[in-house]
Amino acid sequence: MTVLKNDRFLRALLKQPVDVTPVWMMRQAGRYLPEYRATRAKAGDFMSLCMNPELACEVTLQPLDRYPQLDAAILFSDILTVPDAMGLGLYFETGEGPRFRKVVSSPADIEALPVPDPERDLGYVMAAVRTIRRELNGRVPLIGFSGSPWTLATYMVEGGSSKDFRKSKAMLYDNPQAMHALLDKLARAVTAYLNGQILAGAQAVQIFDSWGGSLSSAAYQEFSLAYMKRIVDGLIREHEGRRVPVILFTKGGGLWLEAMAGSGAEALGLDWTCDIGDARARVGGKVALQGNMDPSVLYANPAAIRAEVARILARYGAGSGHVFNLGHGITPEVDPAHAGAFFEAVHELSAQYHR
Ligand code: CP3
Repeated sequence: MTVLKNDRFLRALLKQPVDVTPVWMMRQAGRYLPEYRATRAKAGDFMSLCMNPELACEVTLQPLDRYPQLDAAILFSDILTVPDAMGLGLYFETGEGPRFRKVVSSPADIEALPVPDPERDLGYVMAAVRTIRRELNGRVPLIGFSGSPWTLATYMVEGGSSKDFRKSKAMLYDNPQAMHALLDKLARAVTAYLNGQILAGAQAVQIFDSWGGSLSSAAYQEFSLAYMKRIVDGLIREHEGRRVPVILFTKGGGLWLEAMAGSGAEALGLDWTCDIGDARARVGGKVALQGNMDPSVLYANPAAIRAEVARILARYGAGSGHVFNLGHGITPEVDPAHAGAFFEAVHELSAQYHR
């Protein structure tokens, strides 16, 4: 077992003292990097890249090699690998986002869905985790991840991305029992998948609830948060002699932070619509916070990026319990130099809050 040379990300998630605020970025391995585009071209397409552990490892490490400030690596994969392993047939149409060959539209479809076994059915992801851990060699911790049951359900019922979630919300209200049966299956699948990643070497895990914020407050509790809670309850919480922290990220979840803080997760991801100082006052006694710069700030010049980093650090204030991140993934059009200015600013400007 290699020693972790930089553990400030894991320490901040547990609210233990750190020297500077740790930083990583959602989608840090992605199309804004020319070296990513080159490796993707070598693989052929995005899914082939995900399914090749050596190449998935290569792109995971690219942002770390370019930006020495990064305090964590995130597994290169996708949340839709789970529905793919349930037999839906994931593919990506260039410029159109993800699509499924089969959609889930009836109770019989739900009944027929298998719960994938991580090593047998998602072995390429487990192999990627093992390869990345080996190549990281203790540089920084590795984050594993999954989609939330509700977020995965929207893709499975809509057959792909959606603006209004017409079919999934119709199912939720027309036949809540069917939606619950689907979410129950997904919660079991996600629990096994994340535990597989933890056993393979993931040192923290994040649950991406990208579409929980589209729900009413009542529906959020019943159809999204309740299932994420079940997952947290079923996760391996201690591995290789260390706590394995869980980060819950509901995009648009700012109204429900108190409820999320009761989920058992160590940390909550915040999008940019809430003030991180207010969030800390509401739930900072219970959980760490991750976020929350508007990804669009990275279109601005480095001085403006630095000013926004300073503002967010000041709003969080002194002490540990903050992992700096964007409020959602970086977009492909961002200049890589601007991402670098962002990471530098976080480390340089945060030391004063950790004395
Ligand atoms: O953060 C990381 O660097 C880890 C890798 C990662 C990807 N997808 C790589 C990816 C993670 C954590 C995800 C999660 C994911 N995937 C989410 C939840 C997070 C969020 O953004 O809210 C969702 C909803 C998906 C589904 C998905 N995958 C969509 C909608 C798309 C197309 C979007 C687009 O911009 O075209 C993807 C493809 C995808 N996943 C890419 C990457 C780097 C782009 C693929 C490419 O063309 O190379």
